[in-house]
Amino acid sequence: MSNSGEAELIHMFKGIPFTTRSSPDLLKSLDAFVAREDDVLLVSYPKSGTHWLAGVITKLYNTQVTITSPIEFGDISKLEELNNLSSKRIIPTHLDYNMLPTNFKNKKCKMIYISRNPKDTAVSMYHYYRDNPNLPTVDTWTAFFDLFLKGNVVCGSWFDHFLSWEEHEDDKNILFLFYEDMKKDLPKVVKKITLFLSLNVSEKEIQDICKKSSFSEMKNDTEKENSDPNHTVCALTSNRKLIFRKGAVGDWKNHFTPKQNRRFDEMFNEKMKLSKM
Ligand code: A3P
Repeated sequence: MSNSGEAELIHMFKGIPFTTRSSPDLLKSLDAFVAREDDVLLVSYPKSGTHWLAGVITKLYNTQVTITSPIEFGDISKLEELNNLSSKRIIPTHLDYNMLPTNFKNKKCKMIYISRNPKDTAVSMYHYYRDNPNLPTVDTWTAFFDLFLKGNVVCGSWFDHFLSWEEHEDDKNILFLFYEDMKKDLPKVVKKITLFLSLNVSEKEIQDICKKSSFSEMKNDTEKENSDPNHTVCALTSNRKLIFRKGAVGDWKNHFTPKQNRRFDEMFNEKMKLSKM
């Protein structure tokens, strides 16, 4: 990561790197956010399948819902903008649990946390950094690997993010999902989501939604549409084409050297020793 690039594009807030697209004023004011009981939060560490999940969820509703850009993305006017939305709000966020506006917690809003094998997440993020002008330059996979392990990437350490949410895994209002489970049996995961959100969706509709949410369908849809920066779930780009890269499980094996794999496993075992994962 070049220093000048980092200085222009990244700032630290409470020890976590954010892009300058998340203004410090907004981040400071998040706790003033007024949640509504029927808000649904889509929570993820970047590159975990957020757009996939968002694509599925919006298709489950037959009433009007608005999927917003992430709550931490924008300037201070964001709070008012969300406040002015009259429809049901589905709000993505990459915030860790501790930074989430307390009002969401007090009102027990439903939250869905999607997680992915951190090795694949790291590889996905590496490509994203390389292709995205809103992120600092990374020269090589080796350099990015070190940054990722140190948590010196946007949204900070994968481990800290995951652990902050996993602590709340038994909260009734939080559903934990895994990208790999969606790849393995999407209809089963979608069924789980409908039960969690108390939505009445038939088996046939679930099958249709899954078909429309395949990697190739979603990628094609994106290539046909004109990107609208206000309608991207991701905080870090307005170019939706950057999102749909490979959509595979296990791509890390094409990037990690045996030594990197050992280092990653050591870190994983150390950081996650109290985790149930
Ligand atoms: P890859 O870079 O490994 O391809 P996010 O939405 O959180 O930014 O995550 C992006 C990752 O999810 C990308 O991973 C992208 O290809 C993958 N993805 C997006 N839609 C998908 C789908 N319908 N099926 C499988 N993977 C999908």
